[in-house]
Amino acid sequence: MSTLKILGIETSCDETAAAVVIDGKEILSSIVASQIDIHHRYGGVVPELASRKHMEAIVPVVEEALEQAGAGLTDIDGIAVTQGPGLIGSLLVGLSFAKSLAFSLNIPWIGVDHLEGHINSVFLTPDPPETPFIALLASGGHTAVYYVSSRTDMALMGRTRDDAAGEAFDKVSKMLGMGYPGGGVISRLAENGDPERIHFPRALHDKPNFDFSFSGLKTAVKRYIQTHPDETGEPGVYHIAAAFQEAVADALIDKLIAAALTANCRRIVVAGGVAANRRLRDKLALAAESNRLSLHIPPVDLCGDNAAMIAAIGTKYLQIGRRSGIDTDVYSRSTGISIWRGETE
Ligand code: KG4
Ligand code: ZN
Repeated sequence: MSTLKILGIETSCDETAAAVVIDGKEILSSIVASQIDIHHRYGGVVPELASRKHMEAIVPVVEEALEQAGAGLTDIDGIAVTQGPGLIGSLLVGLSFAKSLAFSLNIPWIGVDHLEGHINSVFLTPDPPETPFIALLASGGHTAVYYVSSRTDMALMGRTRDDAAGEAFDKVSKMLGMGYPGGGVISRLAENGDPERIHFPRALHDKPNFDFSFSGLKTAVKRYIQTHPDETGEPGVYHIAAAFQEAVADALIDKLIAAALTANCRRIVVAGGVAANRRLRDKLALAAESNRLSLHIPPVDLCGDNAAMIAAIGTKYLQIGRRSGIDTDVYSRSTGISIWRGETE
């Protein structure tokens, strides 16, 4: 089979990203232009500003991805772009750009699901797992566990009933007067803290499902800050961050391991921005070992939003002959997700 060189484009939230990937597994380039500096002062992503910034960045980011890959436009065999879920205005920039570029080059293009992209980031690692595997996706917008039976086929086992794990990090960071995004800030503060000094709740721990809930934890942190105002300076803030991070990590690990054991599947994968969390990675490694599961987590630069993962899943669809058309539109929320019906390995 001849090789496929696919250009990936991702603009679902506050990162403008482009990548060139060969055969859905080898990254030639992966450029991510973050808008954090713009949104930081507002404590979250401002949709209107995000789409304007995507419009400014899309051409230089794609040009840089091609240049780093040593490729010209005519070397590209197809384009994969995030179709949803995400911010409509932001998605439209990437999708319209990809559509027009593919049309002008007369090459196939495909709109792909951002969440499937995150899960496919693991196939860009040197030692990817075989399918089926159980995947935890923990990002700023989503937190869910999937039974992944192939690269393009996954069923939902459980998901958050309220906030996403990354969103909880962002909100707690804001409560502590720190900036957006909160994941990096909280994990740095937590390095100096004692995770056992304060105990925050692990919701749904004893429930026989694979769902998450982080809003009670968020409220518990808020109440703690209100009732212990003298602990929001150093070193108290370190302990609050460490205890909060521990509660999120425990909840994620608990449900992921339970899902793997229930589905009798020995391989687990973690993806999404929160998978960059050092404490979560370390605790997962221990939990996987004691349950004799093999753990696969992409390197940190593939956990957050990037276009290599979009090219990776897009390649798979293009290889099986799927194409998007001129009337393909973006979507803000995933619909029609298949639900896990008890399949086991
Ligand atoms: O996957 P991602 O880049 O974008 C979405 O699709 O949402 O995830 C972003 C989320 C943010 O909420 C951010 O605070 C969180 O991932 N995050 C982290 C860390 N780095 C990023 N959360 C915990 N620890 C981190 N080190
Ligand atoms: Zn994402």
